[in-house]
Amino acid sequence: MSQAATPTAAPPRFDVTRVRKEFPILGRKVHGQPLVYLDNAATTQKPRVVLDALVRYYTEHNANIHRGVHYLSETATQAHEAARRTVQRFVNARDAREIVFTRNATEGINLVAHSFGQAHVREGDEIVITGMEHHSNIVPWQLLCERTGARLRVAPITDEGELVWEEVERLIGPRTKIVAVVHLSNSLGTVNPVERIVELAHQHDAAVLVDGAQSAYHLPVDVQAMDCDFYVATGHKLYGPTGIGLLYGKAERLEQMPPYQGGGDMISSVTFEKTTYNELPYKFEAGTPHIAGAIGLAAAIDYLTGVGLDQVAAHERDLLAYGTSALRQIPGLRLVGTATNKASILSFVMDGVHPHDVGTIVDRMGVAIRTGHHCTQPVMDRMGISATARASLAMYSTRDDIDTLVAAVGRAREVFA
Ligand code: ALA
Repeated sequence: MSQAATPTAAPPRFDVTRVRKEFPILGRKVHGQPLVYLDNAATTQKPRVVLDALVRYYTEHNANIHRGVHYLSETATQAHEAARRTVQRFVNARDAREIVFTRNATEGINLVAHSFGQAHVREGDEIVITGMEHHSNIVPWQLLCERTGARLRVAPITDEGELVWEEVERLIGPRTKIVAVVHLSNSLGTVNPVERIVELAHQHDAAVLVDGAQSAYHLPVDVQAMDCDFYVATGHKLYGPTGIGLLYGKAERLEQMPPYQGGGDMISSVTFEKTTYNELPYKFEAGTPHIAGAIGLAAAIDYLTGVGLDQVAAHERDLLAYGTSALRQIPGLRLVGTATNKASILSFVMDGVHPHDVGTIVDRMGVAIRTGHHCTQPVMDRMGISATARASLAMYSTRDDIDTLVAAVGRAREVFA
């Protein structure tokens, strides 16, 4: 390297205009209007590098993995396992064996509920969740309680959408086998103190699963620092493809758990009398996996880390503050979810206008938001509402997007109020 070269280049300054150019879909129009995409908590758009990685995989490398001695199978296997190491680095897991590829965050939670549940949960045991969980972090635990006779305990939330900490402390105790908690709430935006929860749970020898479906693409995640036992996330919110998710589990936990599904690849040997299981993480990956999905997810993670999660988080914090103050100017609008530690989500209701009507009017102006209960019906019940309109941010969101949203919501108010 010449003396003139910069040995340790600082990460490039965050430039939202440059970022937006990498996402082809952001250039399109809907209903004749430029697309303003603010439904990122449902799914994010994909940068060109991810689209290219998918095409390249199917064009040049497509083959089944872990099965063939032929060239394509070997290169596809290498790419798939390299993707696992990319995920490992991204969440800072100690070992690639601790990363299980799943279909999505929901499947990761179901895997743990089944497998950890089978190994450790018995009648009279308790499972603690919170009042702000997504249905996918409620129903698998309810099913486990039905199977075992364990009891589901729910930590309540305040009007602002924060955990009532004294109740968390009261609920987590000697009977608790696992605590399952959302990191970043999809309907309220609350960021939960997961490290404190882990510390408390571990004092009682309870495991902790962190639902990171919404956090992985907004906040830097370090599972070793968090010390959680399990962490789940989904690729399609991480700017990657649908149908691919990740489960991190501490190796010592995963080792003790029985397989979740049976099939090819998860076995070491099979006879009709007895089957022995493969080593981690393959024990939990029955059948042909979503090879292209894993490779696309790795491309998305490389892109996101190249932009810099700290920079993305700072950009989104600025937009959240800007959007919060702009929406608050609209008469009759009330934000739902006003936690002190909050990220990326602007949920709201308006006097005299149903959220679905807000969503329909703003859609005509090119603005995509989600309306409804957001798969968190207990949150809606707690807040005394049936639905919210929800704008959610991503790295490519801008103040112009927020301005268009505010103008469109103002228009909805004129039409209906
Ligand atoms: N859970 C996703 C959302 O909040 C789909 O929209």
